[in-house]
Amino acid sequence: MKVLMLNGSAHTHGNTYIALEEIGKTLKEEGIDYEIFQIGGKPVRDCIGCGQCTEKGCVFDDDAVNEFVAKAKEADGFVFGTPVYYAHPSGRVQSFLDRVFYSSGRNFACKPGAAVAVARRGGCSASFDVMNKYFGISQMPVAGSTYWNSVHGRTQGEASQDEEGLQTMRNLARNMAWMMKCFEAGKEKGILPPTAERTHMTNFIR
Ligand SMILES: Cc1cc2nc3c(=O)[nH]c(=O)nc-3n(C[C@H](O)[C@H](O)[C@H](O)COP(=O)(O)O)c2cc1C
Repeated sequence: MKVLMLNGSAHTHGNTYIALEEIGKTLKEEGIDYEIFQIGGKPVRDCIGCGQCTEKGCVFDDDAVNEFVAKAKEADGFVFGTPVYYAHPSGRVQSFLDRVFYSSGRNFACKPGAAVAVARRGGCSASFDVMNKYFGISQMPVAGSTYWNSVHGRTQGEASQDEEGLQTMRNLARNMAWMMKCFEAGKEKGILPPTAERTHMTNFIR
């Protein structure tokens, strides 16, 4: 089993990476593979609502969105990490995930997810709330920890001094590993993920 993580910071080895690596190391101890997908510093398009999404994902193929979608199809769990910018997730991570989920949300259904927010000081729980919205609308069970998933640090590497933050990451990883193993054991016993009803789409309430 494998967890696909997204580092929503342009800093490849910044504080968000430190938080995700702590999760990854703990997943490994639990016998679960992981990959940290780097969003990088190149431009990321916003969703333009063109409705032209394909089996491959987004109609725009000039950034890493569809590469991430291809990996998501094979993954069994997800962690999305973001630095906090003005008390919200980074603009690039929101643009990226809007397009991933609008085009390919079905690939995430019934696989556990968790969000991680990294900041100098403030805005972690607001960012965490935004990131968690992707899970609720996509039939994804959310893995929790012993605090809302946040790690503190400003300059590169500072997050490694946040003992409680890193402890929260390790507990999150253990909870996610446990959920994944339970789901796998359930499948082996014939307990399959439910098929969602999709017959109604009411755009406003009369
Ligand atoms: C544009 C911008 C806005 C920021 N806004 C906040 C903020 O609202 N609250 C905060 O505590 N830190 C804020 N920070 C600091 C970053 O969240 C912090 O340095 C974080 O560790 C960066 O993670 P990274 O190393 O993975 O990029 C901001 C940084 C930038 C560049």
